[in-house]
Amino acid sequence: MKQRLIIFDTTLRDGEQSPGASMTRDEKMRIARQLERLRVDVIEAGFPAASNGDFEAVKAIAGVIKDSIVCGLARANDHDVRRAGDALREAHAGRIHTFIATSPIHMERKLRLLPEQVIEQAVKAVKLARSYREDVEFSPEDAGRSEPDFLCRILEQVIKAGATTINIPDTVGYTVPEQFGGLVRMLRERIPNSDKVIWSVHCHNDLGLAVANSLWAVMNGARQVECTVNGLGERAGNASLEEIVMAVRTRQDYFPCETRIDATQIVPISKLVSGITGFPVQPNKAIVGANAFAHESGIHQDGVIKSRETYEIMRAEDVGWGANKLVLGKLSGRNAFKQRLKELGIELDSEEALNAAFARFKDLADKKSEIFDEDLQMLVTEEAIEHDQEHFKLLSMMTHSETGETPTAKVVVAEDGAERRAEAGGSGMVDATFKAIETIASSGAELTLYSVNAVTSGTDSQGEVTVRLRKSGRIVNGAGADTDIVVASAKAYINALNKLHSKLERLNPQV
Ligand code: KIV
Ligand code: ZN
Repeated sequence: MKQRLIIFDTTLRDGEQSPGASMTRDEKMRIARQLERLRVDVIEAGFPAASNGDFEAVKAIAGVIKDSIVCGLARANDHDVRRAGDALREAHAGRIHTFIATSPIHMERKLRLLPEQVIEQAVKAVKLARSYREDVEFSPEDAGRSEPDFLCRILEQVIKAGATTINIPDTVGYTVPEQFGGLVRMLRERIPNSDKVIWSVHCHNDLGLAVANSLWAVMNGARQVECTVNGLGERAGNASLEEIVMAVRTRQDYFPCETRIDATQIVPISKLVSGITGFPVQPNKAIVGANAFAHESGIHQDGVIKSRETYEIMRAEDVGWGANKLVLGKLSGRNAFKQRLKELGIELDSEEALNAAFARFKDLADKKSEIFDEDLQMLVTEEAIEHDQEHFKLLSMMTHSETGETPTAKVVVAEDGAERRAEAGGSGMVDATFKAIETIASSGAELTLYSVNAVTSGTDSQGEVTVRLRKSGRIVNGAGADTDIVVASAKAYINALNKLHSKLERLNPQV
């Protein structure tokens, strides 16, 4: 029997720290349920002391997840640890993850604490965390740039204080594989009580080395990897879950451990996270990119037709591609619809919500003959978007485009329930639509990203649009889907405006 490699997913915590990736409580719940279906060992559900919203989200997730450990992050202070402990009270299996920075630059310039004070605070936080939970993780933030002797001293003390997992973060993505693996090995060899804990790593991707660093650490004794779906996370992101899992699984001849992940859930969760956060997946992204299993050159195609293994080291269906078979059509009834949602792990809170989603499904089936799992995921995401933030609501729109003429758009938008109309011209129909909406909203926000992806294949596929807006230092991503990409674009723009509105309102209630 090989040893288990624990997969610790931090999409809902570190992933949410990507600019514009903030999620509502319901969105987090949907992702958490899907993570449980994926069979991740630990779900880091949030940072309960960061806000009441985060506290409530961690609490709600802790209340429903049964097959994964639910974890809450806490800085190494009483208030944070208590908030995490309280949020996790209902958890079937809960973990408190506490951290403090240990690099000279962080201790001197950020914390303004002496090394001895940092040790004292870390030990106190771990002891307090242990009074709430038996499962306590400690991270020396910026370990990649910390002094080895100091790391050994502080880690020995926190293990004595009761930490059960020690996580080594490369917070700024600075290390390289051999060095990072060597760091993990050195800590395991030099710290006298190192055998009392599980060693974990948490790598950022600033130099594109997060996965390589994590895997090298695994070869040096790490038995937990912290990662995120699609590699989402602060700045350039974290190690991507799908790459770690599939590397270990595909190279069982090389790695000394295995995961318990159900790999067929990888593509569904990648799409779910991308749809909810509005962060598209690049086509050539390993495992989950649209081209990851597509062969273009004649030589490759010929080889794959003759024998798949000539150019494929993994099977697309093993990671969930193609599992998205045709599921429902125009004639499917409410029960079949409800059953398929259940199989996808989507639970709607009320009969009303189910009826609304079913009505949307019927509308979509009128426009598109084949409805796939991705369409259903998108449909429910859309439903949640409209429920959550409705300061602006798109009521109707009309666009006109003719060769040699300026494209125009007319939109009808409800602002806080009051109907408003506007018309504008633009360089294309999407540009005209955004200008017309902006005439009503007057947000003054800067459009920093616009992207369109097909949800499934075929020209009748829904287009999934992402719009990123920036205003007063706030960044939001809006998402929208429709078989008409101009309508999808309008929905995405309105969604982004609503998110921006609620963020700015929270910041300054007069806005
Ligand atoms: O990157 C980091 O150091 C973190 C810690 C909180 C583990 O996210
Ligand atoms: Zn991090």
